[in-house]
Amino acid sequence: MVKHPLVGIVMGSDSDWPIMKACAETLKSFGVPHEAKVLSAHRTPDAALDYASMAAGRGIKVLIGAAGGAAHLAGVLAAKSELPVLAVPMPSKHLQGLDSLLAMVQMPGGIPVATFAIGEAGATNAALFAVAMLALNDADLARKLSEFRARQTEKVLAKTLPAV
Ligand code: RP5
Repeated sequence: MVKHPLVGIVMGSDSDWPIMKACAETLKSFGVPHEAKVLSAHRTPDAALDYASMAAGRGIKVLIGAAGGAAHLAGVLAAKSELPVLAVPMPSKHLQGLDSLLAMVQMPGGIPVATFAIGEAGATNAALFAVAMLALNDADLARKLSEFRARQTEKVLAKTLPAV
């Protein structure tokens, strides 16, 4: 049986996928059902608006919007959905994602998006943040998150540096 997606990952272009793969992989590692789509605030505005409008009714709990440059996508999703929207700035060609970051983080008051770090760290952390939100009502997922954090701690503490 295919489980309906709880997280909708939307990116402005398939050129964002090499970065956003980290987001999908992280959700998969926690067993969180999700879907990933290419929809653009600029190139497919009607489809992006429709997707956001219908997301909650389809059982989605969290939206993740990734875009680069004049990165309006997460804001557009938030404009049409009351679900929490997480924004991941893509590293753009000319300004290395600073443009994407500022476009996303500077939402005017009233329509929030939660903006993460530029690039793969942001992609991973948006997924982990979605997991943390879903874990508030899912004890099994909360346990998986605690185990993930404990494993991460152990890995860091086990690190050694080369002798000089
Ligand atoms: C944005 O424009 C996309 O999110 C992508 O980061 C950027 C460039 O898109 P492509 O020209 O590679 O399709 O809308």
